[in-house]
Amino acid sequence: MLDGKRLLLIIGGGIAAFKALELIRQLRARGAVVTPVLTRAAEEFVTPLSASALAARKVYRDLFDLTDEAEMGHIELSRAADLVIVAPATADLMGKMANGLADDLASTLLMATDKRVLIAPAMNVRMWLHPATQRNLAVLRDDGVLIVAPQEGAMACGEYGPGRLAEPDDIVASVSAALSAGPLKGRRVIVTSGPTHEPIDPVRYIANRSSGAQGTALARALAGLGADVVFVTGPADCPPPAGVQVIPVQTAQQMLEAVEAALPADAAVFAAAVADWRVANAAERKMKKDGSGQAPVLEFAETPDILARVGRMTEDRPGLVVGFAAETDDVLANATAKRARKGCDWIVANDVSPATGIMGGDENAVTLITATGAEEWPRMAKDQVARRLAQLIAEALA
Ligand code: C5P
Repeated sequence: MLDGKRLLLIIGGGIAAFKALELIRQLRARGAVVTPVLTRAAEEFVTPLSASALAARKVYRDLFDLTDEAEMGHIELSRAADLVIVAPATADLMGKMANGLADDLASTLLMATDKRVLIAPAMNVRMWLHPATQRNLAVLRDDGVLIVAPQEGAMACGEYGPGRLAEPDDIVASVSAALSAGPLKGRRVIVTSGPTHEPIDPVRYIANRSSGAQGTALARALAGLGADVVFVTGPADCPPPAGVQVIPVQTAQQMLEAVEAALPADAAVFAAAVADWRVANAAERKMKKDGSGQAPVLEFAETPDILARVGRMTEDRPGLVVGFAAETDDVLANATAKRARKGCDWIVANDVSPATGIMGGDENAVTLITATGAEEWPRMAKDQVARRLAQLIAEALA
C-alpha cells in the first residue's frame, strides 16, 4: 500500500530511536523506499550501519558532508521525498521545528522541505507535559504538521505517563493515511466531537460524560480514506487524530461558529455530545458562598442546535449531513423522529443506558437510519463503527 513511496525518515536522539529500526522494516515491507537521516544524538542510540542495513540505503548524517552535497544537496534530499517523517521526534527537534532553527542536517531538511511532515514525538513525561513542548506542539499543528500522538505507559526512565513513542504499526497507519489517494481524496468533511463545557462562572461549568472516542475514530477513518477533515472538538479525553485540522472549542456557541466558518463542505458528521442548555445567568466572577445558606439559582437557556441549523440550511448545506442520537429508551422511534426534525440525511443511533457501557467505553452498538430505513449493526469496536461509516460516506459522495 506504500508501493514506491519515498519516505525521508529523520531519527531523533532518544531511547525510543531503536523503534525507528522496526519502523524502517515495516515501511519497507509495505513497499516504501526509506531514506534515513540520523541526528548526532540519534547516533548515540542506534548506529548508522543498522539504519542503513535495514533501509538498504545510504544514511545521511551531516550537513557539511561534501560528498553528500555533491551527490545530492539538502534541498534536493528534502524534496525528493513524498513525505518527511520524524520518529522519534524529541523535545529538542520539536523546539527547532516550531521556531525555524536549522543548525544541523535534520533541522535544515525540515526547513527546506516542501512536502508534508509527520512527527511521532517521544520523550520523558515531564518534558512532554512541559508548557514549552505543548506550545511547540500547538505551533506545529497550526503549521500543518501531522502528529502521531505519544502513548501513555511506563517509560524507560521509570516514570509513568504520556510520552512513549507510538507503536510502529500506528505510525505506519498514519503514514499510509497521509499518503493515501483514498476515495475521499479532495473531499472536505467536518466532524464535531467531544462534549461541550458551558460555564456557570469563570471556574465552573456544566459538561457531560462524552469521551470523544467515537468522533475521534470517525475523523481518523475519514482522513484514512483521504478526506480533508476539519475536526471541531470540545474538551475530549482522547487526543485528536493525526492528519486532520483540529479546531478546539469549549461551548456549543463556539462549536456552531467553528462549524459555520468551516463551511462549505461535502459532508458533515455531528458526533459531538453538545450541551442542550447553557447557563443563562453565568456569573462574570467566581460565585461565592455568602454565609446566608441561600444556594444560587441557575437559569438555563437552550443552546443552538448545530446539526438542525446545518441540516436545514438552504445555502451551503453539505451534500451529506449525519447526526448521532444517543438515547436511553425507544432508541429507534426517537432517532427516526430526530432525523426528520433535524433535517439530516442519516442518523447513527445508539443506546447509551448505563448498562450498555457504551458511553466512555471502547465499543458501540448502532443503528443507521437513512431515508430508506433502519439498519442494525452488531456490537463492535468504535474504530470499526467509524471505518464502516466512513466507507458508507465515501460511497454516498462518490
Ligand atoms: O437532540 P440530541 O442532542 O439528541 O441530538 C443529537 C445530535 O444532534 C448529535 O448529532 C449532536 O451532535 C447534534 N446536536 C447539535 N447541537 C446541539 C445538540 C445536538 O449539533 N445543540
